[in-house]
Amino acid sequence: MSRFAEGFLLGAATAAHQVEGNNVHSDYWVQEQVPHSMFCEPSLDAVDHYNRYEEDIRLMAEAGLNSYRFSIEWARIQPERDVWEEKEVEHYRRVLQCCHENGITPVVTMMHFTSPKWLISMGGWENPAVAGLFAEYCGRLVGELGDQMEYVCTINEANMRLQLASLMQDMMKRMAGQPGDGSGQKADGTTKADGGQHLGARESDVQVGINLKGDNLMRGMLESAQAFGLKNPMDVHTFVSQCTPEGDLLVMKAHEAARDAMKEKCPHLKIGLTLSLHDLQALPGGEALAAREWEEEFLHYLPFLQKDDFLGVQCYTRKFFDANGVAEPPAGARRTQMGYEDCPGAIGAVVRKVSKHFRGDLMVTENGIATADDARRCEFIREAAEGLRQCIAEGIPLKGYMYWSLLDNFEWQKGYSMTFGLIGVDRTTQTRHSKESLKVLGSLAPYKEGNDAA
Ligand code: BGC
Repeated sequence: MSRFAEGFLLGAATAAHQVEGNNVHSDYWVQEQVPHSMFCEPSLDAVDHYNRYEEDIRLMAEAGLNSYRFSIEWARIQPERDVWEEKEVEHYRRVLQCCHENGITPVVTMMHFTSPKWLISMGGWENPAVAGLFAEYCGRLVGELGDQMEYVCTINEANMRLQLASLMQDMMKRMAGQPGDGSGQKADGTTKADGGQHLGARESDVQVGINLKGDNLMRGMLESAQAFGLKNPMDVHTFVSQCTPEGDLLVMKAHEAARDAMKEKCPHLKIGLTLSLHDLQALPGGEALAAREWEEEFLHYLPFLQKDDFLGVQCYTRKFFDANGVAEPPAGARRTQMGYEDCPGAIGAVVRKVSKHFRGDLMVTENGIATADDARRCEFIREAAEGLRQCIAEGIPLKGYMYWSLLDNFEWQKGYSMTFGLIGVDRTTQTRHSKESLKVLGSLAPYKEGNDAA
């Protein structure tokens, strides 16, 4: 299989909280540590990327990759509202420099789901102040580190709040003893649409690790609220919590404000956000629901992206709709560890659909598979790359592909059981072992000195 052309960014992605370890000032840390946590396990040392980033970046470079998408942790830089940790800024300067020394272009995310604890205590992602606070943080940070950066994603999966909203509503209803789960679920376990809510929603309906099981969800939520100094669990507005329509728009305001603040300091930066998108497919009778989902998942955000330099596309699978709502994939379809369909063709299809509406550059900022079988991952990468090559051949301005993830890591509420990585980690010793899939991805990278010939 041939390499992508010169200039194409080919790399892998991580997020600070999922790999660094000991992100103790963040809202996630709080929620992981309460006695009845929704998290299957806490992140703790994660895979110690905070201390081992040099080894990880070197492994990437040795495999031939030329870019690395990672996030800077807001809670490390601003552990309190009025504290600015210069030594943490210096840490990320070293990470950025390490990328450059290894011939790796950094793609930096400013907010990848986790926020400082203090932000949540003051109303989090439903408090209109968040837009200004986030913009102020981003502006100041690039004022210090922007000279080392080129591509910046403001907010990871800016649509995830809304995607989770219906799942959360359903869960709250169940906890309050109201119908939600059973009433909305069809006999075969699939989801039934109900006036805009997807009752009976399943974990596999979203492309992120959540845990809807457990008998102690309400206790855990009460404990978290208390830890944030809030009385009511409904007032806990982390990035991935129940979201109002105003909260959805607030994310867009935060994006625009942060983008403008960073541009003002560093006009050279290429700035965009990323979205979690499915390859939505309508079965007969499901056309209207699939169209409504596309509107909600993607189209209604377009007005806020007009001044962006690129759009980060993230997709892991496809989703079917029939007249009743989300339908099952074809019988016998292979599933990933996450429960959704293993579908390497989805990313090419989504890039093609997105390109019809977003007229700027696109970058695949995440795509990957959670599997214990690395041969499947190799196959997945080859097929996904083939789909993207076709998009490029059609003239779609696709600038890069970041596989999720560089390392096996902390898949949020699902803990460490999901293995997406190109590199495995023995967490008892934090020893890395590169998988064959790292080589396969590297073999697709544009030719550079030191790469093996294709
Ligand atoms: C998120 C990642 C997550 C990945 C795999 C994306 O939704 O950005 O943080 O680990 O999907 O589920």
